[in-house]
Amino acid sequence: MSTVRQATPQDKDAVIAMWRACDLVKPQNDPSLDFDLALRTATSTIFVLEDAEQLLGAVMAGFDGHRGWFYYLGVAPQFQSAGNGRLLVESAEHWLHTQGAPKTMLMVRDTNTKVIAFYEKLGYTLENTRVLGKRN
Ligand SMILES: CC(C)(COP(=O)(O)OP(=O)(O)OC[C@H]1O[C@@H](n2cnc3c(N)ncnc32)[C@H](O)[C@@H]1OP(=O)(O)O)[C@@H](O)C(=O)NCCC(=O)NCCS
Repeated sequence: MSTVRQATPQDKDAVIAMWRACDLVKPQNDPSLDFDLALRTATSTIFVLEDAEQLLGAVMAGFDGHRGWFYYLGVAPQFQSAGNGRLLVESAEHWLHTQGAPKTMLMVRDTNTKVIAFYEKLGYTLENTRVLGKRN
């Protein structure tokens, strides 16, 4: 049986290994710093999905005071297509709702558009919005 819980620092290595297996780690991001920052920030967290033996997947969620966002959603390749991605998204959505976020958002890289069909299955729709960024 699998369960979802909030991550602890002890989960870091397994979560990062899964992120790497899912090709979610990009050169401009340090997954170790990202993991630590999400856990020590009051309005963000990471959920892990596990069975008795191992980590199956994880997702990072955060509320910015206006929208709830999730990042780094991944299910280890051997556990995909079994409802685990949906479970993690629903866990993030529920937590964001309890934090007060009226809407859940996510970003998809232009190199990963095949995942959009998964999100559409879960009720998400493409928005006419461009996302801009700048390093602090
Ligand atoms: C995206 C990802 C998290 C989906 O997880 P998953 O466990 O395979 O998905 P689920 O089994 O929960 O699928 C939920 C539903 O979406 C559907 N679905 C999953 N992937 C799909 C795809 N590529 N196209 C269309 N539908 C898809 C499933 O058929 C299922 O439908 P159902 O509930 O009607 O049966 C997983 O493929 C993954 O980790 N990918 C690599 C990392 C990644 O790209 N993350 C997203 C970054 S934005």
